[in-house]
Amino acid sequence: WSNLPAGHLLPPHLVRSSPVLLEKSYGKLSRHNQCHFMLKHLQDGDQISVHMPPDIAGHWVSDSCEVRSGPEFLTRSYHFYSNHTFQALQFYYRDNHCTEPIYSLLVQGSVHPRQASWVVRGGTEADYQLSRVHLISHNPSVAKELQEKLEQSCDLQKHMEPGLSYELLADDFEHSGRDCSRGLDFSMQELRLLRMEKRHRHGDPTLEAEELFLGDVHTERAQRRLHRPSGYQPPLQSVKTYDDSCVTCQIISAADLHNPPVLPSQNDRPLRLYGNWVSSRCEVRPGVLFLTRHFAFHEDGNVWEGHYYHFSDPVCRRPTFSISARGHFSQGVPSTTVMGGTEFTFTVTHMKVTPMDMATTSLLNVFSGNECGKQGSWRLGVQQDVTFTSGCAALGIRLPHTEYELFRMGRDSAGHSLLFNGQRPTNGSSPNQPHKRATSYQPPLIRCMSSQKGATTTSHKPDSLCHSLVSGLA
Ligand SMILES: *[C@@H]1O[C@H](CO)[C@@H](O)[C@H](O)[C@H]1NC(C)=O
Ligand SMILES: *[C@@H]1O[C@H](CO)[C@@H](O)[C@H](O)[C@H]1NC(C)=O
Repeated sequence: WSNLPAGHLLPPHLVRSSPVLLEKSYGKLSRHNQCHFMLKHLQDGDQISVHMPPDIAGHWVSDSCEVRSGPEFLTRSYHFYSNHTFQALQFYYRDNHCTEPIYSLLVQGSVHPRQASWVVRGGTEADYQLSRVHLISHNPSVAKELQEKLEQSCDLQKHMEPGLSYELLADDFEHSGRDCSRGLDFSMQELRLLRMEKRHRHGDPTLEAEELFLGDVHTERAQRRLHRPSGYQPPLQSVKTYDDSCVTCQIISAADLHNPPVLPSQNDRPLRLYGNWVSSRCEVRPGVLFLTRHFAFHEDGNVWEGHYYHFSDPVCRRPTFSISARGHFSQGVPSTTVMGGTEFTFTVTHMKVTPMDMATTSLLNVFSGNECGKQGSWRLGVQQDVTFTSGCAALGIRLPHTEYELFRMGRDSAGHSLLFNGQRPTNGSSPNQPHKRATSYQPPLIRCMSSQKGATTTSHKPDSLCHSLVSGLA
C-alpha cells in the first residue's frame, strides 16, 4: 500500500515544501474559486522548508490556548539547548481560554534527534530522558486536588502548598523508582517525534517564521505514557520569529514556573458553521496519511459535504485518492465535558471515490463483488459513486455512517475565522457512539468562499472517514 513509508525513508536533507499565501490572495480572488485556490496553494508553493534532522535549539512557545483530550487546557514554553538538554514548562488551566492557571510543570532532561521517522514521513524520531519534573499549584483548592491525586501514585509526605514547587521525579528515579508524575498522566512522549518548518511569510524570503511540531498525545489518557507519536500537536512558535500580532506568544514567552501566563479573557465565539472551510496546512493523520480537507455546510436542510484529498507525502503533493462524502448534520447542545465545545451529530449517506495513483487504482480493482463500486472498473483519476454499494469495504467505510462530533470556533492572530472539529481517536476507531465523542480537536480549518451554493457539487465533512480508510487499506 502506497501510504506505507517503507522505502521512502528520507535522507537528512532539505525538503522543499508548500506555501500558505492566504493573506496575499485572500481578498482579491473571485468568490468562485477561493476554496480551491487556497487548497491548491498548499501544494504549489515553495515557501516552507524542512530541515532533517532539525536543529531545535531555541525557545518555543504555544500560539494559543491548547486543548488535549480529557480535556486539558494548557500552554507550553520549551527551551532546547545546543548541548541537548531541555527545560519544558507546561501551564495548565481551569478554562478553555487559559485565563485561570491551576498548576504548572517544569520538566528537565535531554533529547537527541535520531533518524527519519518510519511512522510519519517528514518527521524525525528522537530519544529523550527526563532528569527532573517539578510541580507547582497556583491556588489552595488545586493544591488539595493534586495532593489527593498524587497520594494514590506515590507517598507524598509533605502537605502541598500553593506557590511552592514539589519534585515529582528526581535525578535518581531510575534507582529509587520514585516517580510521582504518573498521578497526573504526565508524559513527554511528544519528544519522540520532531519536525521543524521554516515558513516564508508573505512570500518575503527575509521574513522567516520557524515552527516546531512535536508528537501527538494519545486521546486516551491511560495510553499516553507508552504512546509512540503518529501525528503532531499544534506547532510551537520560535520566540525569535513569531509574528508581532501574536499577543499570546508574547505573554507565554515572558512567563516562568512561578508566574504562569494568563491569556486575555474572551467570550466563546458563536458557532457559525454555514459556508465553506478548508485546511490551512497539509495535515497528518495518525496512521500514515496526509490529507487536506474541504467542508461545506449548507443551511438548507443542514446538509454537509466533505472532500478529503489524500496524499502519500508530507507536503501534500502526490495524491493517492480523494473522497467526497455527503449527508446531514444536526447541532446539539454545548458540551458539558469540553468547555467551549458544541456537540454535533453527522451522518454520511453518499460517497464518491477517486483513485489518484496506480497503487490505489489496482487495490480497488482487486476487491470483488458488490463491495466498492462496480467490480474491476476503477480507472486512474476517474471518480465513482459508491453509494449504491453502501460505501466501500476496501476503504473500511459502510454507509450510512453516523459520527458524534465536537466543534468550536476560533480566530487566528491575523483575524481569520477558524473552525475546529473533534480529534479522531488515536486507536483508529470511529466516534460512532456518543461516549466516543472527542474531547480535543484536529488542526483548524479556515473559512473560504465558494460560489457553489448547491448542496450537490462541492464541499465537506469531518474526519472519521479517513481513519477507517487506512485501517481498511493497510
Ligand atoms: C546545557 O546548556 C544549558 C544552557 O546553556 C546550561 O544551563 C546547562 O547547564 C548545560 N547542561 C549541561 C549538562 O552541560
Ligand atoms: C478505541 O478508542 C475508543 C475511544 O477512545 C474506545 O471506546 C475503544 O474501546 C477503543 N478500541 C480499541 C479496539 O481499543
